Amino acid sequence: MVSPAAASVLPCALLLLLRSGLGVSTPPSEEGEDVERTGSPAGPREEFPTVVFAILARNSQHSLPHYLGALERMDYPKERISIWCATDHNVDNTTEILHEWLTAVEGHYRHIEWRSIDEPSSYPDEHGPKHWSDARFEHVMRLKQEALSFARSERADYILFTDTDSILTNNQTLKFLIAQNKSVVAPMLDSQTYYSNFWCGITPQGYYRRTADYFPTKNRQRVGCFAVSMVYAAFLIDLRKNDTADLAFHPPHPSYTWPFDDIIVFAYSCQTAGAQMYLCNQQRFGYINVPVKSHQTLEDESINFVHLILEAMVDGTPMFPSSHVYLPPKHPTKIGFDEVFLINLARRPDRRQRMLSSLFELEIEPLVINAVDGSALNSSDIKKLGVDLLPGYFDPFSGRTLTKGEVGCFLSHHHVWNEIVERGLEKSVVLEDDVRFEAYFKKRILRLMDELEQVQLDWDLMYRHRQMKKI
Ligand SMILES: *[C@@H]1O[C@H](CO)[C@@H](O)[C@H](O)[C@H]1NC(C)=O
Ligand SMILES: *[C@@H]1O[C@H](CO)[C@@H](O)[C@H](O)[C@H]1NC(C)=O
Ligand SMILES: *[C@@H]1O[C@H](CO)[C@@H](O)[C@H](O)[C@H]1NC(C)=O
Ligand SMILES: *[C@@H]1O[C@H](CO)[C@@H](O)[C@H](O)[C@H]1NC(C)=O
Ligand SMILES: *[C@@H]1O[C@H](CO)[C@@H](O)[C@H](O)[C@H]1NC(C)=O
Repeated sequence: MVSPAAASVLPCALLLLLRSGLGVSTPPSEEGEDVERTGSPAGPREEFPTVVFAILARNSQHSLPHYLGALERMDYPKERISIWCATDHNVDNTTEILHEWLTAVEGHYRHIEWRSIDEPSSYPDEHGPKHWSDARFEHVMRLKQEALSFARSERADYILFTDTDSILTNNQTLKFLIAQNKSVVAPMLDSQTYYSNFWCGITPQGYYRRTADYFPTKNRQRVGCFAVSMVYAAFLIDLRKNDTADLAFHPPHPSYTWPFDDIIVFAYSCQTAGAQMYLCNQQRFGYINVPVKSHQTLEDESINFVHLILEAMVDGTPMFPSSHVYLPPKHPTKIGFDEVFLINLARRPDRRQRMLSSLFELEIEPLVINAVDGSALNSSDIKKLGVDLLPGYFDPFSGRTLTKGEVGCFLSHHHVWNEIVERGLEKSVVLEDDVRFEAYFKKRILRLMDELEQVQLDWDLMYRHRQMKKI
């Protein structure tokens, strides 16, 4: 187990790892002299261990640009990375996007292995593209096994499996994981919910068991690298350690009786080999999209992913798409309203930027209104504007009267109301610049408008969740 201080000692640990010559490294390249060993603090580039990135993509055009963007920005010499990439059973543009990306980055990586099958676009026994049928599990296990065999045949030092719904926004993730010196180690991923990429406990039948450790770990009340029962979605295997030599995804171990699922098969394989899985949460490494249910659609998954992009902006560790792939154009509209106002204080460009980026992702076109800066108002200004409190008004929560900020906020809304009257707008949305959108924001607001229409409610102003106002 590693203490919270591990994050700060990382550069030293990494240095140790590289200097001790654990890397099964290729000889220094012919061109140029051997780099002075004591010279560069990171050690000669040639000594970085070799890593295989395993990419298994299916129907993931919604997340691929951000996923690939994160991989290509990983702070690690690309000439020490090989890519093993497979895709099949797609109904969307996954194959095209991967092909475009691999073609663009090919020259930078050590080696690229590409397995793409166009037909069929579904499994015979699946109910929909998000359903995990036995045939699908079996196929994925075989592919993962193939990736692992490829890495072994390349004599790679590590293999990093990252699902396409897991976005490693932290460009130090790979170096961090290598420095942990574990057989199997995963970076804890954040999501829109309590979902993450590890289990703390497992039942005798091989199913998920929630233990008392789960939430303190997920919420980072306990911080470090912890031995856990299962990791998935993104994890690194050290192929040089003797306890990983027999790890396998397929076929399952002869004594295997647990559910037929690639994640559980692999956890069992680790257990029988005595290779402990670890999960680290010292840093924010990235995000995992909460999976949709088997009956849901690719569109639902895509809506969830847009929400994850917005949440990453709130957290301050945003995702960025790869510049090497074509991004389908967005078509922002006023979603059926006459205007969507966005009130923003000029001295908060950070908030304006986040809101504009969020609304762009949601394909909503706002009109930015410069807010009245309450803190710049003095009492004579306020008097001159004719603003007066209702006698005896006190905030029901705090018990105090209005702050200058609240007066400014009110004046900003008042300004919007005036514009609505002047332009004769019938239906408008007014957003402040600190809205945290829910996943189905757009669908819900459109459904609400439909329902209002149906019940023919005569309404003037609707106020939602202290977050969204409509006039
Ligand atoms: C890494 O772990 C192995 C045990 O698996 C140990 O022998 C070795 O000394 C460790 N290396 C470093 C640099 O800590
Ligand atoms: C890694 O990410 C940080 C923060 O986003 C950035 O400042 C830094 O330049 C990046 N490093 C590399 C090598 O890309
Ligand atoms: C795939 O991309 C093309 C443009 O390159 C687009 O016209 C088409 O609609 C996309 N297909 C899907 C299923 O999104
Ligand atoms: C793996 O190596 C360790 C020492 O590094 C040793 O104690 C252990 O017996 C080895 N296990 C196998 C399966 O070779
Ligand atoms: C209030 O601010 C205005 C400028 O916004 C200024 O002209 C006025 O003198 C100020 N009044 C007081 C009492 O400070």
